Amino acid sequence: MTTEAEAANRLLRLAREIAKHNRLYHTLDTPEISDGEYDALVRENNALEAEFPHLVREDSPNKAVGAAPAGHLSKVNHAKPMLSLDNAFADEDVADFVARVRRFLNLPEDVPVVLTAEPKIDGLSCSLRYEHGVLVQAATRGDGQVGEDVTANVRTVADVPERLKPSPLQGGAATGPSPRGSAAQHRLGEGESAVTQPLTPALSPDGEREFPSVFEIRGEIYMAKADFEALNATQEAKGEKLFANPRNAAAGSLRQKDASVTAARPLRFLAHGWGEVSDLPGETQYDVIKAIESWGLPVDPRFIRTDTVEETLIHYRTIEALRADLPFDIDGVVYKVDRLDWQARLGFVAKAPRWAIAHKFPAERAETTLEAIAIQVGRTGKLTPVGRLKPVTVGGVVVSNVTLHNRDEIARLGVRVGDRVVVQRAGDVIPQIVDNLSRDDTRPPFAFPDHCPECGSEAQAEEGEVDVRCTGGLICPAQRVERLKHFVSRTALDIEGLGEKTILEFFELGWLHSPADIFRLKARRADILAREGWQEKSVDNLLAAIEAKRSPDAARLLFALGIRHVGAVTARDLLKAFVTLPRLRTLATSETGAEELIQIDGIGPAVVEALADFFHEPHNVAVWDDLLAQVSPPDYIVETRASSVSGKTIVFTGSLETMSRDEAKA
Ligand code: IVH
Repeated sequence: MTTEAEAANRLLRLAREIAKHNRLYHTLDTPEISDGEYDALVRENNALEAEFPHLVREDSPNKAVGAAPAGHLSKVNHAKPMLSLDNAFADEDVADFVARVRRFLNLPEDVPVVLTAEPKIDGLSCSLRYEHGVLVQAATRGDGQVGEDVTANVRTVADVPERLKPSPLQGGAATGPSPRGSAAQHRLGEGESAVTQPLTPALSPDGEREFPSVFEIRGEIYMAKADFEALNATQEAKGEKLFANPRNAAAGSLRQKDASVTAARPLRFLAHGWGEVSDLPGETQYDVIKAIESWGLPVDPRFIRTDTVEETLIHYRTIEALRADLPFDIDGVVYKVDRLDWQARLGFVAKAPRWAIAHKFPAERAETTLEAIAIQVGRTGKLTPVGRLKPVTVGGVVVSNVTLHNRDEIARLGVRVGDRVVVQRAGDVIPQIVDNLSRDDTRPPFAFPDHCPECGSEAQAEEGEVDVRCTGGLICPAQRVERLKHFVSRTALDIEGLGEKTILEFFELGWLHSPADIFRLKARRADILAREGWQEKSVDNLLAAIEAKRSPDAARLLFALGIRHVGAVTARDLLKAFVTLPRLRTLATSETGAEELIQIDGIGPAVVEALADFFHEPHNVAVWDDLLAQVSPPDYIVETRASSVSGKTIVFTGSLETMSRDEAKA
């Protein structure tokens, strides 16, 4: 429970902190915290304000938008305030938003609340004032009431037309006079609803339709990711300041005193709304935005209309899935009530409209503590350091383990147990530590082990290799169990029902030492059945799945043995040349075999040496003989035929919907 005194104290500190970060972000373009961290501060503030409404401060973060302009550009009073958006983080927040709209408008359940949905572009908002179809002024948001005049700068942005394009929607060519009067004319009173204005454009003296006398198009100035990378590369080459992200690069480029600097920067614009308007070309958000698009301003192609919360959430997930592949950064999806008469009735609270909400994507970077560094021993004896983290949510997923790859990566990051680290999760990529925030600390560095933590054998890196390996071979239990897991895995022998957990369990029971033991499990039917979690049916299924692999594909079997450097493709290349496993073995162990092997396409000295090493080890030969007594792979005869994919390289990107990646590759 928070006491009133604690709440007042915390609200004071939050107001100061949020104001500081607003200034860093909006005025100085040098944010110090991530958007996720900023959102967390705002959420904490809002929760306290909701619990203690009488403690809401005069300088509450909810009463100010952004930060006042920096000074070197002249100021512009916005005819209509440039507002901010409330945030939704969970699906329920979106349902609540719609329910609130419904309640406010007193709508019966069967009347749909139609919404528009579009990406939330991570740029900076800009208001473009067109008078009679001609651009007369462009302004940044500033604090929402007063922005900066960036007209000269925006005139250099190719996406922003000097003159609006007459559109079919408008029903005639615009022949309106050139701009007259100052930007300050023709303003609606504050809070006055634009929809009270006539909905059809006025007729010019010669009977053709004109553009509205005033139309402020609002949207986002941004920089594409690729353009940002290129700009930073140029900045670096020139020894100039690098930008932290595309948004800062866009802000820094737009707010230049000298517009020729802006002209050299690849800025883009996407329209998503409007400010002061003398008349509107439609009665819904959707129709007006489409009219703006028809006048020649870019609108995001993912701008759609939805009828239900479910449909809205589907669009959210679609956009979220596209996020990494979009050419620009987005940080959520914005929903707006489609009907403009409803928007007018809903109005605003403090700094944000009641008729819109930003459904944010989960933060994809987070800060946490590295609590331990564990060492895992893989199938080939490789020692992989794994960071154990204080659990943290990254991109909507709780992350508590993170790979540190190898000894060099630990040295590069300079991480030690107890350090504060930044964890990143990008799409379906495994989480990684991308930064160490305790780098300057004077504690000694992490000592990478020189002995295998599983079997105590020496662990070393070979000449010129980064990976440290356990030299224990098959006396190392970790390597043995990892090899068994590999043997049954999907890409190897693919024995259904024999997963990693079962392998580990049977290994620990002493039932499995080497691959051949898998084919002797049928003698343990009663033992397996006695174990928890097994029934007649599941045991029968497992044993049947094993029996089904008595005549395995020879190349898969070779790959399943896990010989170093013999991957799935190499295994196939070897069998294409030698047809049977016994012939391959004869060659690999003969005096002259190496020369013959090296002739094969795709086979290099590393493979030849690895095969010789494998068969040189008596234990491996025993495993091999034992296995080939249990299974008999048919001769490997490949019939080659040209097909529509032969000679082509096929790359799978993104996530596959109907099959696993391994299935698709097969
Ligand atoms: S609508 C009155 N739509 O997000 C509502 N804003 O956090 C005004 N933004 O100031 C905003 N993409 O700069 C809207 N599709 C979008 C947007 C968007 C980015 C920005 C905009 C706004 C800020 C609010």
